[in-house]
Amino acid sequence: MTDKLIIFDTTLRDGEQSPGASMTKEEKLRIAKQLERLKVDVIEAGFAASSRGDFEAIQAIAAVIKNSTVCSLARAHQQDIEQAAAALRSAEAFRIHTFIATSPLHMEKKLRMTPEQVLEQARSAVRHARQFTNDVEFSPEDSSRSQLDFLCRVLEAVIAEGATTINITDTVGYAMPEHHGQLLRTLRERIPNSERAVWSVHCHNDLGLAVANSLAAVKFGGARQIECTINGLGERAGNTSLEEVVMAVKTRQDYFGLEVGIDTTQIVPTSKLVSQITGFMVQPNKAIVGANAFAHASGIHQDGILKARDTYEIMRAEEVGWSTNKIVLGKLSGRTAFKQRLQELGIALDGENELNTAFMRFKELADRKAEIYDEDIIALVAAGGVAS
Ligand code: KIV
Ligand code: ZN
Repeated sequence: MTDKLIIFDTTLRDGEQSPGASMTKEEKLRIAKQLERLKVDVIEAGFAASSRGDFEAIQAIAAVIKNSTVCSLARAHQQDIEQAAAALRSAEAFRIHTFIATSPLHMEKKLRMTPEQVLEQARSAVRHARQFTNDVEFSPEDSSRSQLDFLCRVLEAVIAEGATTINITDTVGYAMPEHHGQLLRTLRERIPNSERAVWSVHCHNDLGLAVANSLAAVKFGGARQIECTINGLGERAGNTSLEEVVMAVKTRQDYFGLEVGIDTTQIVPTSKLVSQITGFMVQPNKAIVGANAFAHASGIHQDGILKARDTYEIMRAEEVGWSTNKIVLGKLSGRTAFKQRLQELGIALDGENELNTAFMRFKELADRKAEIYDEDIIALVAAGGVAS
């Protein structure tokens, strides 16, 4: 049987930590419903103890979502965990996600706690969370800058307390793909009770490596959950982008050998909704969801695509929710693409001479104008007195 890769979406929690991306309860609810349509396995709906608004948004989401597990973040404090449990109470299935930092820098400078105190707090947080649910995730914050021996002690202890998912974090986007894969592998090999938990990764994109680090953790470290966000939204430079990891695992099934439960045709609608609600534009050349992700501009590529789409497309635009791919007419386009567009517009030219004249005029116009639209072609043919 093929292993499943669990997709944990944190657009509504870490994504909202993007400066300027805060969302109202109603907006969060709309996104959560769309994430359910997308068939994500887990929706991290917020951080219940962080504000009254977040608590209520989680409560509202928990009440309506039926097919995804709903999750709240909680610091490793009793009150945070109780707030999370209270907000999630009405959910069909819920998870409490508790965390505490384990790197020397965070423990000493931020928490002002000794490693032994951190270990004890992690242990008691998981024990407390287990009173409310048997689905408990534990994250050692800043894992990639933590000491291996200490990380092993903490993780063994929290698994013994009943943590069912262990989420290795690259909180500041510091990891390199090979090391990150190796880190997961070493942890799973060294921790005696490691097989009792699902291993997960949560990577930030400070060096543009969040997707690469997550995929390396899956391929080489045995991670079976990826935490990610729509359009890669998230604190600072953002998180692992959901659309990129999902399409990488699907398109390269031969390499990963994993199944994902996502309805990929909902990817573009979800990306558009998140962009519209947050006001964060998607860059045109963004993989999968950018306006140019399936647009072909060069004459050679257009000719190839019109003969066989596989020549320059490794996946179909329709598979991720675009209505079609795009042949963009401009100064790099060749006769094949121009002729094809005339046919699509129902313009029949009288022989090769007329086609040559029209194509020459098109090229002249394209030198002055970045993109040639259908109206330009109609006007250009009409002005030249060619038949239609
Ligand atoms: O980046 C991080 O470490 C986090 C944890 C709270 C999971 O967001
Ligand atoms: Zn994060």
